[in-house]
Amino acid sequence: MAHATRADSPVLLDVLQDGVLTLTLNRPEKLNALDQAMIDALHAALDYYATNGDVRVVILTGAGQKAFAAGADIGQLRDRRAPDALRAINAALFDRIAAFPCPTIAAVRGFALGGGCELALACDLRVCGLSAKFGQPETGLGILAAAGATWRLPALIGLGRARELLYTGRLVDATEAQAIGLVNQVVPDDELTAAVDEMAGLIARNDRLATRLTKQSLRMIEGQLEQVRMFVSAAQAVCFDSPEKVRRMDAFLDRKKKRA
Ligand code: COA
Repeated sequence: MAHATRADSPVLLDVLQDGVLTLTLNRPEKLNALDQAMIDALHAALDYYATNGDVRVVILTGAGQKAFAAGADIGQLRDRRAPDALRAINAALFDRIAAFPCPTIAAVRGFALGGGCELALACDLRVCGLSAKFGQPETGLGILAAAGATWRLPALIGLGRARELLYTGRLVDATEAQAIGLVNQVVPDDELTAAVDEMAGLIARNDRLATRLTKQSLRMIEGQLEQVRMFVSAAQAVCFDSPEKVRRMDAFLDRKKKRA
């Protein structure tokens, strides 16, 4: 059953309180890098809570102080090839989160990079601590940000800024993230949980049906993205088979050996 989590589960599920469900990415020693076990656990949680319990708000967060999620697991990504790209492993999960019937909030401390940033973008709202750092470093690894950043980032912060962040891969701190509309609220890290709980509480006290239909209505203005999604998966398939991608990911994975 999806809500029976252990302390070492890839995703921790907090018992519903007043309709608020908290999902915590639980791999802090790897900065909550998204691996297949975590993806599977998130799918299982969505499967369960889409139809069970009176969920009114979902909060997504990362265990530990250092990261929301530092991206897809580069060790696993390195070995993925074109057919894996066409399966759109992360994008399919993030689309489910974006489409989840009730509002979702990303509570971000520390790094939200690559797929971690895209996961936060897939949520309806983002609240972060002052330690937050957002970024899309994918092109530096020889791949695309193929799990939503090319369409969700422009929708949030405008095409010009999105281009800059996607081309440069530079990090955006919490203050800048708020100034450009990437996050809804910034608070000191030790106030993050309370701030997110307060926002979730404001949402949860409103009518469940009206809130869900409001979310569906807002999703319609996202428009026809099917062509973009198909292009991005095909483009990623090309990158996944490129030797440069393997070389760049090996450089990340081997960097500590080189320092030693
Ligand atoms: N995939 C796999 N492992 C990752 C990871 C990722 N995306 N991000 C961090 N980790 C692991 C590190 O390998 C390290 O594991 P180890 O202790 O077994 O070697 C651990 O998490 C801690 O990371 P470390 O790099 O030592 O921390 P740091 O504070 O020096 O640097 C970052 C933090 C975020 C700058 C750095 O980890 C980084 O650049 N990560 C990759 C970010 C990225 O490119 N994400 C997009 C992927 S598509």
